[in-house]
Amino acid sequence: MSDTQTRVLFVKRPVGWVDETSFAVVREPVPEPGPADVLVRNLYLSVDPYLRGRMAGAFREGDVMVARGVGEVVASGHERWKPGDLVWGFLGWEQYTVIRRGEGLYPVDASLGVPISYYLDVLGMPGLTAWVGVHVLGRPEPGETVFVSSAAGAVGSIAGQLARLAGARAVGSAGSEAKVRHVVDVLGFDDCLDYKAEPSLPAALRRTCPAGIDVYFENVGGPLLEAVLGHMNPLGRLPVCGLISGYNATEDPGVKGFAHILGKRLTVTGFSIYDHMWRFEAWQPRMAELLTSGRIVYHEDVWEGVEQAPAAFIGMLRGDSLGKRVLRVG
Ligand SMILES: NC(=O)c1ccc[n+]([C@@H]2O[C@H](COP(=O)([O-])OP(=O)(O)OC[C@H]3O[C@@H](n4cnc5c(N)ncnc54)[C@H](OP(=O)(O)O)[C@@H]3O)[C@@H](O)[C@H]2O)c1
Repeated sequence: MSDTQTRVLFVKRPVGWVDETSFAVVREPVPEPGPADVLVRNLYLSVDPYLRGRMAGAFREGDVMVARGVGEVVASGHERWKPGDLVWGFLGWEQYTVIRRGEGLYPVDASLGVPISYYLDVLGMPGLTAWVGVHVLGRPEPGETVFVSSAAGAVGSIAGQLARLAGARAVGSAGSEAKVRHVVDVLGFDDCLDYKAEPSLPAALRRTCPAGIDVYFENVGGPLLEAVLGHMNPLGRLPVCGLISGYNATEDPGVKGFAHILGKRLTVTGFSIYDHMWRFEAWQPRMAELLTSGRIVYHEDVWEGVEQAPAAFIGMLRGDSLGKRVLRVG
C-alpha cells in the first residue's frame, strides 16, 4: 500500500452550472486511523445528482468530496470489522477513507451473485428509492399508466421495470434517441419519448400515454412536469423523487399548472430515501432475487480512476450517462 493517495477536493462553491474549477485533484498522505477507526480501501464510488445540492451548502470548501462507496477494510480497531471485509457507506472521492469509529458502514454480501458495485445502485440507495416511489407512494394498479422521467437513469430505469412487474403500463422520457431505444429495447418499457426532440411535450404525452397518466415518477421537474400535470388522470399520484432540471439554476424556476392538483385531486408527495432506510434490510433480498432471476435488468456506466470524478459528475448532470454512473477506483 502506497503512503500517498489521489483525492478529489471540493474547493469552490459553484454558482449556476458546476464546472471543473469547483474541484482539485491532489496527492496527499493516506491518513492514519485512530485506535477505534476503520481504514477502507475504496473500490467503487458513486456519482450522484444530490451531490450538486450538497455543494450549494453542506460541503465545506477544502474538504474531500464525500460520496457513497464500496470498499475493503484494510485496518480496523473496531470489533465489528476486520481486514478483508467488504463494506459500503459514505466514503469519499479518494482511494482510502478513514471512518471514525466505523460509523455508518454496512456489510456487502459478495455471495449474492451480483457485482459488488450494485450496492451503490440497484441494491443500494437508487434501487430503494425506485421501490419506495413505486410501491409505497405511487401504488400503481394493473392496467394503469406510470410515466417515469429520466427513465434511462439509475433510479428511473428501475422504477419503470417495477411498475411493469406490478402490471402497469410503463412509459418513460429520456434525452436522446439512443437512451429511448435502451429504455424500450433493453429495459422493456412500453414506450418512451425523447423530451429534447419532441416539438410539443403535451402532444408527445397524448401519443405515448393515450389513456392519461395515473402515476408520475418525477425525477426532473421543469417543462416536462408542467406538461405531465395537464395529462394526469383524476386521483393520480406524483411521487416527487428529484427535480434535476433545476439543480444548477440560479433562480427558482417555479411550476405552471398547479391548479391541476386541485382540479384532478392529485396526490403530490416529495420524499427522501433517508426517511426509508429502515426498509433496507427486508427490501434488499427481494431486489436481489428480482435481479438474479432476470426480472429486473440493470446497466452501469463505469468510469476508471478517482481523478475522473469531476468530469464524470459534470457529464452525468448534463445527461451523458446511461444507467448508473460509478467510478472504479484505480
Ligand atoms: N428523493 C430521493 O431520496 C432521491 C434519491 C436518489 C435520487 N434522487 C433524484 O432522482 C433523480 C434521478 O437520480 P439518478 O441518480 O437516477 O440520476 P440519473 O437519472 O442516472 O442521471 C441524471 C440524468 O438526469 C437527466 N437530466 C439532466 N438534466 C435534465 C433536464 N434538464 N431535464 C430532464 N432530465 C435531465 C439526464 O438524462 P437525460 O439524458 O434523460 O436528460 C441525466 O443522465 C435526480 O433528480 C436525483 O436527485 C432522489
